[in-house]
Amino acid sequence: MDLSKLRANGARLRASLEEMATIGATPAGGVQRLTLSDEDRRARDLFVKWLKELDLSVSIDEMGSIFGRRKGRNDSLPPVMAGSHIDSQPKGGRFDGILGVMGALEVMRTLHENKVETERPLIIVDWTNEEGSRFAPAMVASGVWAGALERDWVYARADKDGKKQGEELARIGYKGTEPATKWPTHAYYEYHIEQGPMLERQKKTIGAPKGILCLHWYDVYLTGEANQVGPTPMEGRHDALVAAAECILAVNTLPDRMKGNMVATVGEIQNGPNSRNIIPDKAHFTVDIRSWDDDHAIAAWELLKKDFNTIAARRGTPIRIEETWRCPHAPFAERLVQRVLDTAKALGYSNLHMVSGAGHDASYMNQVCPTAMIFVPSIGGRSHVEVENTSWEDCEAGANVLLHCLLATANEK
Ligand code: GLV
Ligand code: MN
Ligand code: MN
Repeated sequence: MDLSKLRANGARLRASLEEMATIGATPAGGVQRLTLSDEDRRARDLFVKWLKELDLSVSIDEMGSIFGRRKGRNDSLPPVMAGSHIDSQPKGGRFDGILGVMGALEVMRTLHENKVETERPLIIVDWTNEEGSRFAPAMVASGVWAGALERDWVYARADKDGKKQGEELARIGYKGTEPATKWPTHAYYEYHIEQGPMLERQKKTIGAPKGILCLHWYDVYLTGEANQVGPTPMEGRHDALVAAAECILAVNTLPDRMKGNMVATVGEIQNGPNSRNIIPDKAHFTVDIRSWDDDHAIAAWELLKKDFNTIAARRGTPIRIEETWRCPHAPFAERLVQRVLDTAKALGYSNLHMVSGAGHDASYMNQVCPTAMIFVPSIGGRSHVEVENTSWEDCEAGANVLLHCLLATANEK
């Protein structure tokens, strides 16, 4: 057959996404499928069932990542991989991650029903814990697979209830036996929603990021002195939450002080004992700093650390700082990025060369093999929210770009 005429089935892709969206569905139209939760397990079970229907050889590694391998004509050649993640944010949307997994599945289904062979094997992957919301940091399974993170350190990371990541993997039945170790890979593509406003603003259908910003994560712990709020005078207090509030404002003004080229966010806070009539004696908050320039992000952190120490000393609230995670910025393989742009053009889709502010497993895969991503527009530029949305037409367009990028790359000798 004329492979250039091959197209993904948009209706089937939509049906798969809609079925996945029932697992962990939230009343406001999003999903809550936290990594290694029962919802994550149910979605994985469905995914594995779908993989088996395509006669793919399925394997699960010791980080719980699920791989479905399709034979190549020349099966000993390094494979081409594509995928993303099934887990979600606590109040996440129906597209983040799962679109890249269902999109790659739709490609496999299209090849299967049309009996299309490729020179190289193709592997679809669902990476465990991309989000990093339940267990920090993010992208741990691709990080271990790529050799950038230590398996046992990741296993030992605990959630807010003290449950360990390695134990939760075993509990849901997805602590596999295959070593989580990279193999020679020809290329990796990740299909994803943009999660920002650029494609919609510029009325483009397909985005091809030149790479991903660095992600630097920190955890800050402040200790104050608890007391009755009524009788205790304002002067002389050691209020951990007020110290945290001051620190948080310093984070928010950091990008301006650094003259831009970065974003900085506090997204999570715990306050103790969290009672309206007790002066807080414990505060924990997170810091997320992102930039295309790792050195700039680190210089910003050094400045911020000084601010934090000054604030803590002035308020008499001893501080402990954990430098939790640094994932360096990932400049993708230009040849593959160009292929995404050219493929979009050949299929008649408008396209944009851009940058990814969101983190993806593609960051770590970029350390293993030539990597690129395919973005489709997020309606209203909203993501990590229940109203996250992308038109079905755009979902189909992205799947077609993925299909033809995979075909071209998997047929390279
Ligand atoms: C991943 O979801 C991120 O934080 O960008
Ligand atoms: Mn994602
Ligand atoms: Mn996400």
